[in-house]
Parts: sequence; C-alpha cells; structure tokens
Amino acid sequence: MASGKKSATYFRDKVFSTKGMVLTFDDIIVKPGYTKFHPDNVDIATKVGPFTFRTPIFSAAMDTVTEAEMAVQMALLGGLGVIHRNCPYSKQLEMVKKVKRARSFIIEDVATISPNTTVAEAIKKMAIYEISGLVVVENEKVVGIFTRRDIPYRKRPDALVKEVMTPNPICAKVGISREEALEKLWEIRKEKLPIVDDNGHLQGLITLKDMKPQYSAASIDEKGRLLVGLGCSPFLPKNKSDLAILKEIDGHVDIYFTDVAQFHKDLDMNGTRQLMETLNNYFVVGNIGTFEAAEHILTKANFPEDKFIGIKVGMGSGSICTTTIQTGVGAPTLFATAEVADAIQMYNPKIALIADGGFKNPGDIAKAFTVGADAIMTGHFFGGCTESPGFVDTIGGRKVKVYRGMGSKEARAVGQFSLDRYNVGEGGKKLAEGVSDYVPFTGPVYGVLEQLVDGLKNGMIYAGAQTLREMWTKQVGQITYSGRMETGPHDLLSR
Ligand code: XMP
Repeated sequence: MASGKKSATYFRDKVFSTKGMVLTFDDIIVKPGYTKFHPDNVDIATKVGPFTFRTPIFSAAMDTVTEAEMAVQMALLGGLGVIHRNCPYSKQLEMVKKVKRARSFIIEDVATISPNTTVAEAIKKMAIYEISGLVVVENEKVVGIFTRRDIPYRKRPDALVKEVMTPNPICAKVGISREEALEKLWEIRKEKLPIVDDNGHLQGLITLKDMKPQYSAASIDEKGRLLVGLGCSPFLPKNKSDLAILKEIDGHVDIYFTDVAQFHKDLDMNGTRQLMETLNNYFVVGNIGTFEAAEHILTKANFPEDKFIGIKVGMGSGSICTTTIQTGVGAPTLFATAEVADAIQMYNPKIALIADGGFKNPGDIAKAFTVGADAIMTGHFFGGCTESPGFVDTIGGRKVKVYRGMGSKEARAVGQFSLDRYNVGEGGKKLAEGVSDYVPFTGPVYGVLEQLVDGLKNGMIYAGAQTLREMWTKQVGQITYSGRMETGPHDLLSR
C-alpha cells in the first residue's frame, strides 16, 4: 500500500461511502498538491498480474468497441483491448488469433499457400488474415514468398502463385537471434525472413515490421506478440465443440475478463472457478460494486491463486447502461472503486482493480486513480473510433457511429451469446438493461487515447503524483452543484 494509508477504510472514507454516500465522478474533485518531479517524469505504467501496461486504459468488451482491430491498436499503444463475447466462440478464436499474429518477433502460426493456388485465392487469404504476404509452401518446404508487390498490375485472376512469387527466398535457421535476424533482413533488403529447420520445413516467420517496432510502449508477451484480453461467460460452454474451441482460444489469450453485470452470485463464482481450473490463462473477475462482494470473493471464492489476478468494478454507471433504471440497484464506478480497493488492500494487495465505465470526461480517469484503481476500462471513449466495429453514419451533418449496451435489445438480437451477462433464468432474459445510440465519430484511437493520457498525466502533475500509486494517496473533496458549474466553462455567450 502506498504511504498515506491511514485505515482499513481509507479509500471509502475519501468518498464518504462509510457515511452511507454513493458518490460519482461528478461529485468529487481532486485537490491540487505539491509537485516535486519534472513533468516529463510522470509515469502512468501499471501492473495487472504479471503484465505491465504503459497505458492503464483498456477498451471495453463490447461489440461496438473491441474486436481485433481495436485490440491491436490498444495493445500497440500500451493499453489492452478486451474482445467482446457477443458472438460464437469460433469468431472469438479468429479475433484473438488476428491480434496475436499482428506483431511478434517470430510468427509461429504462419499463413501459407500452395504454389498452385490462384493469385485471386492468395489475395483473398491475405485480406482475411489482414496481412501483406504469404509463405509459399510445397511438401512442407518453403518454395517462395508471395506479397502484395507480386500481384500482377493487369488483372489475371487465373494466374498461379508460382508464376509471380519470389522463388527460393533466403531463409534463416531456427534459433536465430533478434540481432542476427535484423542484420540478415538488411543484408538481403527484404521484409520477410522464413525460419526453417534442417529439412527446410517451415517453422516460423520474421518480418521487418515486427523487428523495428515504432510502438515502444506496446503491451507485449514474452514472445513479442501483442497482449489481448477476452470477455467471457462465467460458465464453461455447455456443448463439447464450444469447449474444444475455448481450449484452442486459451492458447492465444492473455487475460479473460468475466463479463457479467453483477458477479457476486454463487452461480457465477462457482462457474468461474471451474473455468479457472479448466483453462490455463489469467482471469479478471467482475463486475462487482461493494466492499462486501470483494471481501467474499477474496476470502471465500477459492479461486486458484495463480489464475486470479484482478477484479473489475462498477455497476450501472456505463453511458449505455440502464441496469439501475430498470432495477434500482447499482454501484457507480467511483464508489465501487473505493469500496473494492479497501477490500483488496485488506485481503490481497496483489489483486489489480479495474474501474469500468462511467467515464464522461478525461478528468474522470484521474479521479478513479485517487480512489484505488490500477487501470480503467471505457467503451464510451472508444465507440466512435475508426477501429471500433461498425460503419460511420451521418446525422445532421455530423459523422457518428453506433454505440450500444451489451444488454440492449439491439445487442441481444445478435443471438444468445451473452444472455448470462445479466441473469440466468427465464425472467432475466426479457429485460433490456442497456440502450443503443450514436456517439460522434472521433477518428483513429491513437488521437483519442492521447487526449485521455494527457489528461491523466496533467492531472497527476497538478495533484503532485509521479506514479499511479502516488495518486492513490492524493486527496479529493466533494463538490457542490455550483462548484461543478464554476469548474466548467461558464458565463459565455453560448453557455
Ligand atoms: P461506458 O461508460 O464506457 O461503460 O459506456 C462501459 C461499460 O458498461 C458496461 N456495460 C453495460 N452495463 N448494461 C449495463 O448495465 C449494458 O447494456 C451494458 N453494456 C456494457 C460494461 O461493463 C462496459 O465496460
């Protein structure tokens, strides 16, 4: 625990939840502090289990926010994309594979093609995998490389790959080091270097793009591949074929996030324990919203210690959520963060806390870190990005994209995939707990994330916190309605 912890109710006292109050981001303000460090040295890196993220911001597991394209960008920029679960397991598999293939020192799962395939087929395959080239293989041996540059200018869809590929490419042997590979790629002035064993059989592929990363903050695994999260049901799939696919998915995912509106239920906790015992990777469980729920999970759920790395919090405060309107129950993210942070510090400080949803202004992110968050998750900020799924539409001359709650009737119309996000049982299936609407089209996620990161860093500088852990110790105060008006733009012609 960072210095400054006064009691077991430290975070809850900060937001007066020990006095029975349930405050939201808009109700508090972070107090300015003394800044002893150079602004360039502010550090927003965080840890979730064994993983380090240079950007403590995750994109939500929602079908209008995170599929492979968003997950790739989020990881390249130092955060994490959590792929949604409103689809069959086979589609999730396809998406996590795409993310894992997007960057790595050695690609093991190389996309190949036979020399006798048509160029048209090769183009189709490259489009499906979203890659720029294929290794041409015959009888397991590398016989050529086919890249976009080999596509004939004049359309000849019936041309064969072997007629246009670069034949007999230079290959490297298994065990080549990063430096040797870089040297070799420069020597041969090529962008792709297949890796072969003593029999000339393909074992992997090194690409120049992966060797010279322009993304120094990228979130990567030990093989240099991008990290990826996956939203999941708290239950094992019921049928064998889905279970088989989930086990295959397990080879490509880094962190599962149980994607449930309210996780503090016996059924969900028992189901998740089974999942943890069946799968090999790490789990963040959620969502929950109170000290008691966290205490129960941390002391009684019996999750395997080596799998359970985080808790995600916030109930009903998402911009598209109607859970609280429909049911009267909720735990706004600021309140939930403070509640759960105290329990984590009391029972297992190794567990990371992810504050999920309800972020309206970039400044809300800094507020979440003053009450014990290790990372935040948002859908609202990313739903309008180029990389989010869906089309750009125009309403009243403004470009927009659809952003919808996973409990909205529109998301549920896709299929039965995330019914257990709400309640198992007939009653729970009919109540919509989210809405579908538009958000402004905001362009590439790079720009959006940059603004959020700048807001967080500047907030930390004003508060006098050099690291996120120091941010935990910074003071907040409750603000009045008139205070809130005064701290925004006011008394101007248009406001
Ligand atoms: P924001 O504020 O970023 O919140 O839009 C995103 C988070 O909201 C949760 N979520 C929902 N909650 N009904 C709910 O009650 C829904 O339909 C719904 N869809 C998403 C989810 O935790 C997400 O990360």
